[in-house]
Amino acid sequence: MKRIPTGITGLDKLVEGGFPEGRSILLSGACGTGKTIFSMQYIYNGAKKYSEPGIYVTLDERPELIREDVIRFGWDLRKLEQENMLQIIDGSIAKLGIPSEEEVSMPATGFDLDKLLLEIMRVTKRIGAKRLVIDSIPALGLSLENNSEVRKSVLKLSYLLMRTGVTSIITSEIQEGANKFGKFGVEEYVVDGVIVLHYMGVGTQSNRTLHIRKMRATHHSESLHPIEITDKGIVVHKVEEEYEET
Ligand SMILES: Nc1ncnc2c1ncn2[C@@H]1O[C@H](COP(=O)(O)OP(=O)(O)OP(=O)(O)O)[C@@H](O)[C@H]1O
Ligand SMILES: [Mg+2]
Repeated sequence: MKRIPTGITGLDKLVEGGFPEGRSILLSGACGTGKTIFSMQYIYNGAKKYSEPGIYVTLDERPELIREDVIRFGWDLRKLEQENMLQIIDGSIAKLGIPSEEEVSMPATGFDLDKLLLEIMRVTKRIGAKRLVIDSIPALGLSLENNSEVRKSVLKLSYLLMRTGVTSIITSEIQEGANKFGKFGVEEYVVDGVIVLHYMGVGTQSNRTLHIRKMRATHHSESLHPIEITDKGIVVHKVEEEYEET
């Protein structure tokens, strides 16, 4: 099976060299655990180091703010966009009925999953995308009460992503300590891999950890790995490194 290098320092060797090509990975964690940075690093390094065009669907944060925030890591998204190596799809404010100023966005007249999927397929063809991120599933605006509807939508999403052939990360939010991996409790079953980010208590870098909960067709690490957000993005450490320091 072909592997897609993750672009996250230290992660590839924990998953036999990368994500299984063409599959979907769920990235979950509480707020502020680094889901957006992780996902953008996957897309940015994918384009920069591996020459793989990527699509970033942002449903929470406005593209303008993301571009601004990641400059700190030395990631110049505008440049990648100009080179057609990155396309951001803006669904962040369509839900509010406000038109986006982005090149590709959801119409302010209404947001729905089918429109988004059509847009994803169109852009995938146009730039030859190999990587895709949807940040985040809860922001799709699915109704928590209607469990079968949620399951259907998430299934449809993962099925269509598989059809397009891209290797994707979808993010979801969970409360720290919750015994499910996505907000709706169904996401983890339709994806091929689950990575969970934790951020405990106050302060220092060593409070951040990453755990690979599942990765189909992969012999993966089962440890809780310390991670760090550095000026070059997220770095995953081996468990032993942590012990050496103490
Ligand atoms: N340059 C940096 N150096 C170190 N830590 C940083 C840096 N930039 C951001 N962070 C940390 O990363 C967090 C934001 O990460 P990110 O936006 O990826 O989280 P998230 O999981 O997407 O959160 P949300 O659920 O709110 O969308 C900040 O709260 C901060 O703790
Ligand atoms: Mg985020």
